[in-house]
Amino acid sequence: MNLFLLSLQLVTCSVAAFAPAKSYTQVSSRAGAEAINAPSLHDRRHQLQQLVQHPKRTHLHSTVASTRIGAEEIQQLCKDGFVVLKDWLPSDLVSALREDINTLRSKGKFNIAKIGQDSTNTLNTDIRIAETCFLGEGKLTDVQNNSRDDLYSVLENLRSDLSGNDALDENDSVTGELTKTAAALDASLSELLYAYYPKGGFYRRHTDAVANSASVLRTYSLLMYLNNEWKESDGGYLRMHLDSGKDFLPEGEKPNFIDVEPKGGTVVLFKSDRVPHEVLDTVSERMAVVGWYNRPVTSADISSLASEGDKMRGIMLLVAAGLVTFGLISIVTG
Ligand code: OGA
Ligand code: MN
Repeated sequence: MNLFLLSLQLVTCSVAAFAPAKSYTQVSSRAGAEAINAPSLHDRRHQLQQLVQHPKRTHLHSTVASTRIGAEEIQQLCKDGFVVLKDWLPSDLVSALREDINTLRSKGKFNIAKIGQDSTNTLNTDIRIAETCFLGEGKLTDVQNNSRDDLYSVLENLRSDLSGNDALDENDSVTGELTKTAAALDASLSELLYAYYPKGGFYRRHTDAVANSASVLRTYSLLMYLNNEWKESDGGYLRMHLDSGKDFLPEGEKPNFIDVEPKGGTVVLFKSDRVPHEVLDTVSERMAVVGWYNRPVTSADISSLASEGDKMRGIMLLVAAGLVTFGLISIVTG
C-alpha cells in the first residue's frame, strides 16, 4: 500500500497541474470580475474600497488581453517545431512576476531542481543547477499574488489558441497517419513552474517529452523570460538544437542550433518531443516561467507503457491523470 501511494506521488509529482479555469475577463480587472459574478451591492462597495486602498490594483496588466498567438506564429511552430515571440509579455507583468519570484524565494518556496519526471526524478548537478517552484491555481495560496493570476490567464489564452488548431496537426513519420496532437490540450494536465538559475547555473541538453514516462503527454513546452535588462555578458542563452538527435548530437552530425537571448518578455514555444535544448551557463541570476501543455492520456499510452513491461507505471499514469483531471488531488512539488 505504501508502495502504491509512493508511486502515485512520484507520478503525480510530474503532472503538476495549473488547471487554469478562469477566463481573461475574470482576472484582468476587478470590473471584469464583477460583470461575471454579479456581486451584491455590499460586495461592490467593498471592492470599491479596496480599489481606493490599493490603487495599483485598478489595472492589472491591461495588455494581458493582447497576449495571444496568431496564425503566422502557429504556422512557424508547426513548420519549424518552435516559435520565438519577442517582447510578448507586458513589461509590467514581467517585473511583477520577477518580484513574485523574489518573494517566494525569500519565503523558502523554491527547491533545488531535479531532472526527469516521476520515478526518474533525480538530483544531478552535472546536468542542472537551478531552483524551481511549482505553480498552479490552488497552489501557493499562502502567498497570493495578482500577477500570478494574470499569468494563469495568459497561459489559458495560449492553450486555447493552440488547442484544436488544425495547422498543428501532424502526420506520423512512420505510419503517415494523421495525429491530431493539437485537437485537445488538457487544461488540467498542464504543468507550470518558476525556474531560478543562480550565477553559475545551467541546464544541459535534454528533451522535455521522453517515451515511456508521464512526460510523453507533454505536447508544447513553454518558456517565458523574466530577466531585467538582460545583456549578452549575462549568459544563460537558451540553445535549441535542430540536429536529428535527442539528448545527444548524433555521431557524424554537425551541430546545428539557434540561441535565444533570455530577455524579459520573450516567450518561446516548441514541440516538447522535437526540440532538444539547453540553458547555457549563466553569469548573472536568470529567471523564467517554464510550462508544458499536456494532451490527454490515451489507451495507446497505457498499452505502450504496459508493453514495455512496466505495467505498474502505466496504471499509475492513468490513475494520476484521471485524478488530476477530476481535480481530486492537488499536485505536489517535485
Ligand atoms: C526546462 C528547461 C529552459 C529555460 O526546465 O525543462 O528547459 O530556459 N528550461 O529555463
Ligand atoms: Mn526543458
